Amino acid sequence: MGLSKLDVFNVRNIEYARLEPAPRFNFIHGLNGSGKSALLESIFLVGRARSFRTANLSKVINFNAKEFVVSGNICQVGKKNTTIGIQYNHQQLITRLDQQTVKSKATIAYGFPLQIIHPKSYRILDAGPQIRREFIDWGVFNLNADFLPIWRRFKTALTQRNAALKTRLSNQVRVWNPELAYYGTMVHEYRCNYTHQLKPFFLLACEQLLGTTEIDIKINSGWDSVLTYEQALYKSVEKDLRYGFTGQGPHRGDLSVLVKKKQAKDYVSRGQLKLLVLALSMAQITMLQQAEHQLGCFLVDDLTAELDNHSKEKVFRCLDEMKVQVFLTATNKDSFVKGPTVGDHKMFHVEHGVVTEE
Ligand SMILES: Nc1ncnc2c1ncn2[C@@H]1O[C@H](COP(=O)(O)OP(=O)(O)OP(=O)(O)O)[C@@H](O)[C@H]1O
Ligand SMILES: [Mg+2]
Repeated sequence: MGLSKLDVFNVRNIEYARLEPAPRFNFIHGLNGSGKSALLESIFLVGRARSFRTANLSKVINFNAKEFVVSGNICQVGKKNTTIGIQYNHQQLITRLDQQTVKSKATIAYGFPLQIIHPKSYRILDAGPQIRREFIDWGVFNLNADFLPIWRRFKTALTQRNAALKTRLSNQVRVWNPELAYYGTMVHEYRCNYTHQLKPFFLLACEQLLGTTEIDIKINSGWDSVLTYEQALYKSVEKDLRYGFTGQGPHRGDLSVLVKKKQAKDYVSRGQLKLLVLALSMAQITMLQQAEHQLGCFLVDDLTAELDNHSKEKVFRCLDEMKVQVFLTATNKDSFVKGPTVGDHKMFHVEHGVVTEE
């Protein structure tokens, strides 16, 4: 699966661009502020109907325009090509799959699953747990079609219980405990199974990129682990009433990455942190590929910053083995010199929002 054509109208400083990307490697270079990240943002919009840089899509619209439009042709071996179109005009987001309007962003995400690493992704290991939960849930979601309805039922039950907490009536709160416990436990189990499956892929990627396997990943449930979630919810009713929200559950869950039994964030250098995050994403993608859930593409913004030549070579080798369409950006074209030289790649130059194939 991959993007065979991309049209961009009015995304940031890109007024118009058309690309016909290579099935494997696409190198994008240009000076700071030229529009490289804007180009990746456009591809990301096609796959997720949201931006990876802002929750406010108005910021994405070119200053001189009233709306942005991106559309991508997705090709897949043995299947009909599909087209995804995303349009936003400060008020309304319109998402289309093969010219038909679709309401759920999930439909788009299943249609063209993509993963990205951008400068903020490297915070995954040292920022708050939300970003790690999203990382794991993206993986679970793409591997298990039945996860999304369960996750939604969990979120609904959580919202209902939180609303009941506002009434300050403990009986009202207890009514929601069984349902929340049921779906919350399932969400946690999905995350655990996923992490268990991911681990060998992650260890392999760590061995290739960091030369060590003294690494571990663990899921934290978000509640006192000696109790079931239902027991934890009953036990915490009084406390939750005081605070006015549900303090325990998968919405408080976390992923720990341990290097030599210590939290990675306290132990590794910045370059190593970058390699660890790359290893996590690469593990996710390889696992998806092996489960024959094809990945649309892998975007890496600013890959080479902070990586030495040796690390860069190792990353390129791993990307090459992944057999997935990749888009990489760098300020300097030479950053790609150590990359794969084999046929299947294209080089794009971005200057003042104008994209040209070289
Ligand atoms: N809504 C907008 N309309 C027009 N231009 C914008 C908008 N938002 C941001 N820009 C500008 O778009 C330009 C491209 O930004 P972008 O982040 O894509 O650059 P980049 O090539 O990734 O740079 P860097 O190498 O520094 O990461 C910047 O000059 C930015 O100020
Ligand atoms: Mg950038």
